[in-house]
Amino acid sequence: MPSVLWSGKLTLAMKVLVQANNILALATGSANDIQGMKERVKRGYEGEFSDHVRQYDSVGYHLQNRSAQAQLEGLSFEGMRLLDVGCGTGALARVALEKKARTVVCGDISSLMLKEAIRKDATGIAAHSPCQLDAENLPFRDGSFDAAISGMTFGILPNQRMAISEMVRVVKPGGLICVGAHGPEHYWEAIDASLRCITKRHILGYRLEWWPRDERYIRRLLEKAHLDRIQSRRIVWQNEFENGHAAFDFFAAISASWWYAKFPSDEIQRVASFTRDYFNRKGVTVITDDIVVAYGFKPMNAQEKRGSQGAAAS
Ligand SMILES: C[S@@+](CC[C@H](N)C(=O)[O-])C[C@H]1O[C@@H](n2cnc3c(N)ncnc32)[C@H](O)[C@@H]1O
Repeated sequence: MPSVLWSGKLTLAMKVLVQANNILALATGSANDIQGMKERVKRGYEGEFSDHVRQYDSVGYHLQNRSAQAQLEGLSFEGMRLLDVGCGTGALARVALEKKARTVVCGDISSLMLKEAIRKDATGIAAHSPCQLDAENLPFRDGSFDAAISGMTFGILPNQRMAISEMVRVVKPGGLICVGAHGPEHYWEAIDASLRCITKRHILGYRLEWWPRDERYIRRLLEKAHLDRIQSRRIVWQNEFENGHAAFDFFAAISASWWYAKFPSDEIQRVASFTRDYFNRKGVTVITDDIVVAYGFKPMNAQEKRGSQGAAAS
C-alpha cells in the first residue's frame, strides 16, 4: 500500500485537515478500499461530478501538451509500437507520434476521455487504437509493446507499484518504460483553496484520491521493478491565469472533480460555484505544475536479473 500520510506543500491548516482525515481513513479501513477509490476517479473522468472535465482540451490541452513535451524530451520512438497508460485526450501520445512512433495504443479507464482521443484519431491528430483499461491490470500479453509511457496519471493511481509492474510486463525485453508523475507541489495552490471551500463532512473519513510522489520515490519504484539505466528529473513551473475563475476552470477540468464523489448531487454545483468565486476573491491565479519524470529499460533477461538481485540482497 502506498503511504496515505501525504500533505504536499499545503498551508498548515490544510495539512492538519488532510492528515487527520487520512488517519481517520486508516482507522475506519476506508484507506484500503482501492476499488472504491478507482471507481470514484473513473466516475470523475466520465464527467459524473462536473461538466468541467468536458472542457479538458479547451482550457488545459496546451498545458498538458507542455508537460508531455517536457516528459518525452530527449527520447526517440522511431518505428516503435507504444502503449500510453492513462492517455486522457492523447497529449502524450501525440508527442510520441511527433517523435515518429509507428503506433500508440491509447489506454484509459474513462470512456469520456477515450472518446475525445478517438475524435482526434479520426482527424489524424493523436491517438491510435484506443482501449478502455485499468493501469493496474493491463489487458495485453507479455512483451506486446516496444515501450510503455504514462503522463500525469500516477498521482491518482491507488497502487502505483502494480501499475509500474504491469507496464514492465507488457513491454519487450530492452523496452522503455517512461513515467511522468505528479510531484509533491503539483497544483498545491488549487488543492489548498478547494479544501478550504469543501463541505468537510462529505470527505470525512475517506481517503483522498491523491498521491503525488517525490523524485526519490518514483526512482525507487523503477528500481524495484528491476529496470536498467534509470534516469529521473523533476520539472517545476508556474502557470498563470488571467483571473481566479480561469484558474479554477483549468484545475476542475484537468482534475475531474472526483473529490465531490460523496456529495449529494444538488450540493456539488453550489460548492463548485462557491469555490470558483473563492479562487477569484482570493486571487488564486497561479497554479504550480510539478512533474517527476523517470524512465528506464526492461532488462534483456528480466528473470535472470531478478534472480541475481535477490541473491545479492539476501
Ligand atoms: C490528468 S489526466 C492525464 C491524461 C493525459 N496523460 C494527459 O497528460 O493529458 C489522468 C488520466 O488518467 C486516467 N486514469 C485514472 N485512473 C486510471 C486507471 N486506474 N487506469 C487507467 N487510466 C486511469 C483518467 O481517466 C485520466 O484520463
